[in-house]
Amino acid sequence: MNEVIKQLSNRRSVREFTGQCISNEDLELILKTAQRCPTSVNGQQISIVYTKNKEKLEQISKLCGNQEHIKNCEVFVMFVIDYNRISHALDSIGEEQMIQKSAEGIIVGAVDAGIMLSSLQTSAESLGYATTAIGAVRLNVFEFIKLFNLPKNTYPLVGSTIGVPTKKAKEAPLKPRVPFEAFAFEDKYDDKKAKDGIFEYEKIFKEFRQKNGMDYKTSYNKTMASFYTKSYTRDIKKSFEHQGFTFKDSN
Ligand SMILES: Cc1cc2nc3c(=O)[nH]c(=O)nc-3n(C[C@H](O)[C@H](O)[C@H](O)COP(=O)(O)O)c2cc1C
Repeated sequence: MNEVIKQLSNRRSVREFTGQCISNEDLELILKTAQRCPTSVNGQQISIVYTKNKEKLEQISKLCGNQEHIKNCEVFVMFVIDYNRISHALDSIGEEQMIQKSAEGIIVGAVDAGIMLSSLQTSAESLGYATTAIGAVRLNVFEFIKLFNLPKNTYPLVGSTIGVPTKKAKEAPLKPRVPFEAFAFEDKYDDKKAKDGIFEYEKIFKEFRQKNGMDYKTSYNKTMASFYTKSYTRDIKKSFEHQGFTFKDSN
């Protein structure tokens, strides 16, 4: 197994950090390798705003629903959909930018942000750091817009922690996935395999959590219901519109 496959096969979210610093050289390398990721039409419509400031980390932790591990990480990175920078290019040739007013624009931004998040995390992990993606930034989007001074045509979509993992966190068991045949389909989607797989996963997940002392919430089905019977964030439409975005077909 080569080193890349080994690293990806052992990937996990880590929420326990030692408090050791990240060197400036490592941080720069992590950010620069994230910037190397592909972007739709080479638009480069993602920017990063990051902070190492302890007071800001504490504030971010609170804004993300009091997630303790954010307070204890070394760097918090926000992935921002950024059509502001591109609008300057269009302005300079007398063109009006409309992409942020379309569903396509939001989807492009979301896909590109996800790709960059993954690149950044892989890069950080290859240097011995650990990360967790933070979608909970969308619990308080307006506060993040203020905190990071985000102009119109930008949107704070998702974040990531970076820190040095504790030994215990590094060695924690990997969270199981749905059976492979219910995930990867050759030639066409198979709903029978999807259904069988998700039922099987309910058992796999229960056993995993019971075995690892996490049986306070053992059911995947119930966990999903707690998130997916409603939208668990708020003000998403309102905050996108506030930033100059709309989610509609442009033609
Ligand atoms: C877009 C996205 C947002 C996430 N948001 C959070 C978050 O706010 N807090 C958190 O602790 N984990 C968050 N996670 C991590 C997931 O909970 C985690 O990936 C999942 O439980 C699987 O565990 P694993 O990454 O250890 O395999 C997020 C993951 C993704 C991809």
